[in-house]
Amino acid sequence: MSDLLAKVNERRTFAIISHPDAGKTTITEQMLLFGGVIRNAGTVKARKTGHYATSDWMEIEKKRGISVTSSVMQFEFQGKRVNILDTPGHQDFSEDTYRTLMAVDAAVMVIDAAKGIEPQTKKLFKVVKQRGIPIFTFMNKLDRDGREPLDLIAELEEVLGIEGVAMNWPIGMGQTLQGLYDLRNQRVELYRKSDADRFVPLDAAGDLPADEPLASDPQFKETQEAIELIKMAGNQFNRSKIIAGQQTPVYFGSALTNFGVETFLNSFVDLAPAPASHSVNEGEELAPDTPEFAGFVFKIQANMNPQHRDRIAFVRICSGEFHKGMDVQLARTGKTIRLNNATEFMSSQRVQVADAVAGDIVGLYDTGNFQIGDSIYTGKKQVFAPLPEFTPELFVRVSAKNVMKQKSFHKGINQLVQEGAIQLYQNYQTDDYILGAVGQLQFEVFQFRMQNEYHSAVTMESIGHRVARWIKPEQLDPSMSSSRNLLVKDRYGNPLFLFENEFAQRFFQDKYPDVVLTEKI
Ligand code: G4P
Repeated sequence: MSDLLAKVNERRTFAIISHPDAGKTTITEQMLLFGGVIRNAGTVKARKTGHYATSDWMEIEKKRGISVTSSVMQFEFQGKRVNILDTPGHQDFSEDTYRTLMAVDAAVMVIDAAKGIEPQTKKLFKVVKQRGIPIFTFMNKLDRDGREPLDLIAELEEVLGIEGVAMNWPIGMGQTLQGLYDLRNQRVELYRKSDADRFVPLDAAGDLPADEPLASDPQFKETQEAIELIKMAGNQFNRSKIIAGQQTPVYFGSALTNFGVETFLNSFVDLAPAPASHSVNEGEELAPDTPEFAGFVFKIQANMNPQHRDRIAFVRICSGEFHKGMDVQLARTGKTIRLNNATEFMSSQRVQVADAVAGDIVGLYDTGNFQIGDSIYTGKKQVFAPLPEFTPELFVRVSAKNVMKQKSFHKGINQLVQEGAIQLYQNYQTDDYILGAVGQLQFEVFQFRMQNEYHSAVTMESIGHRVARWIKPEQLDPSMSSSRNLLVKDRYGNPLFLFENEFAQRFFQDKYPDVVLTEKI
């Protein structure tokens, strides 16, 4: 095996998806503790506290500044180099959150065991599922009363359409939580025991040693019955299905009390795949151990420091090695760019990186060379498949505050749209500009950047939440437009309706059953 391949095989690059408050920050923090990156719980959490008024740019800046330092978190664990990519939620939710999922090799889905699958998890899951990458599920908050474990697993299949396979099973829950029956390691992990006596091995029949008090506990007997049942009737562990994203291993635990997290992480680094090959040049596959360097830009963080006007382009390395100071070609323009200034993000401080390999993420200081989706390479030209477009859900009408400044207004909008910061639509009849986004923050960033980079003050008038669905031009009839669906065209001229809500969409579909309505991811 080449040195490069050995290094690539050590990489585990993933993102954590969850609905706000399911426990993503808490579990991330526990993982960083195991990785030795932070020493105290609360370090990551601290960045979440200072809530900001969304209209106050300086605060957003501060928040984004902080969130940028934790865009990628790295640590060593069990001989593996773990890269966790942050997927901002809450007010920071944006297309970047989705695009980040294009740069990972696996996803961890954190679910609140009392709530089950929530809307944001569902949205993020859809994007991950589309990529066909492995998804590992952590059912969190076991220290509280939650739903029946069987119910939670069944819901994965019913709501998300993915098979769940139990890797461990709770012995009690909430007040009565006593431990986890660990099917994979054939042991019981006791709740609230010191490190040394936390794990008790099970014998071949699945029984605890007779001197273990839990052995005769009715709750343990109940768990054994549940285990019998899932062994007989539940989904069977199937590694290739897991790798293909058709089955998700399910782990129960409690991030807050650090229960089951280490076992989860151990199992994750063991089962999750090393970086795989990527599609390039419309039909070729690029193996990660190809010696020449290649990667793509999946996110651009702009204006992080108002004094320096710097931007950082986040690149997923897909093949070869990165060295500081190397020259690469930018596929879109053919330009040669020297990568002098690159950053990897270790917890809360930025660290200069010298080397990184396929699977790693580097942040390149950018003076305006890069766009989202750009391919960079050395040697043979490599063009990665374009990043998918996502269906926006929030819309505003936008116009220049000063009608005399149309030129800078158009220039700014076009640049920002090209960069992927926002999506642009036009009213089908009036040609008025409408912006679409998946998160409110995108509008705020847009407004700020128009003012500061293009000296164009903009007026935005909210249209609110809409359900965007594309329609084939040949099926479009102007009479279909009504007060409950706004007809617009995207930047390629393709028509779509912005329905007031799902009800309006269904009403439309009932009225025109032959019309095919589609969405992006
Ligand atoms: P997020 O990043 O997914 O939004 O969630 P985060 O980790 O911030 O957790 C959301 C809330 O849930 C926090 O409580 C956190 O302490 C709590 N939590 C996370 N994991 C567990 C768990 O395993 N058990 C229990 N009982 N709670 C958990 P908070 O009150 O919002 O914040 P804080 O005041 O505790 O910091």
